[in-house]
Amino acid sequence: MNYRNLIYKGTSILKESFIKTAQIDAELLLTISLKKSREKILLNLENKLSLEEIKKYLDLINRRKNNEPISFIEGKRFFWKNEFIVNKNVLTPRYETEILIEEVLRMHNTSNYINVLDVGVGSGCILISLLLEKKNWKGTALDVCSLALKTAKCNAKMQQIENRIKFINSDIDNFFSRKYDLIVSNPPYINKVSYNNLDLDVKAYEPHKALYGGINGLDTIEKVVKKSKFVLKNNGLLALEIGHDQYYMVKELLKKNQFYILKSIKDYQNIYRCLIAKKIK
Ligand SMILES: C[S@@+](CC[C@H](N)C(=O)[O-])C[C@H]1O[C@@H](n2cnc3c(N)ncnc32)[C@H](O)[C@@H]1O
Repeated sequence: MNYRNLIYKGTSILKESFIKTAQIDAELLLTISLKKSREKILLNLENKLSLEEIKKYLDLINRRKNNEPISFIEGKRFFWKNEFIVNKNVLTPRYETEILIEEVLRMHNTSNYINVLDVGVGSGCILISLLLEKKNWKGTALDVCSLALKTAKCNAKMQQIENRIKFINSDIDNFFSRKYDLIVSNPPYINKVSYNNLDLDVKAYEPHKALYGGINGLDTIEKVVKKSKFVLKNNGLLALEIGHDQYYMVKELLKKNQFYILKSIKDYQNIYRCLIAKKIK
């Protein structure tokens, strides 16, 4: 059997299991199992495979058939400029979250020392990406889930910046330290109805704690905004990623808690997904 036949077989199996991205997933899984680039595979479709290679590939196809996300099968995901380890304890970094990184770097255009808090650090993708861009910045990684924090620590070690980050396992409600110049957060914000309708890839594999934000999706966002009022320095910035339908509610919440909204940023679908606010004295 050659690459072409095997990709065809993999695609058919995934299609039968209603995987929407069957063809691309079948190709990606072959790159993962053979540890070869996609270009190498697609340019050599007539190459033959050993029985062992075929078995290894079909094992991966079977995992995907059961809705396991490609990022979990591979154990990593590219975000901003680096690869991050991902597993069942953390949210797989999403491309939308890069909007927050881009905007924070634009608004906080200083290379001087600042202290950054990431609430709900997960894999560490936001904090680590920011600290890699700004060599003098230091950070605190906070997460209520100790296993997520362990993953963030591994990712920080991989980038050799673990000594610039404090790792704290706590609910944001129980955290207090009045010293941050910048707070970033991509909190769980999915509401009850949307959570029930999530694709199986997400619902069955990604952590509930990382996704579910209560009946209206605002439970953790509200906690983060209220706590940020005390934990940020005066004139400090709060950068939040929000759900597609939460813009007006979060704007009100920020105003009520003495924040001035500096910028609202839309995603590629023209929906407000990120808010940057300044704490007013
Ligand atoms: C949507 S994930 C974001 C992960 C990562 N920052 C990212 O952008 O990919 C939210 C994270 O917040 C954490 N979390 C949920 N509720 C929390 C709380 N009350 N206090 C601290 N962390 C919380 C979850 O464990 C999860 O890791």
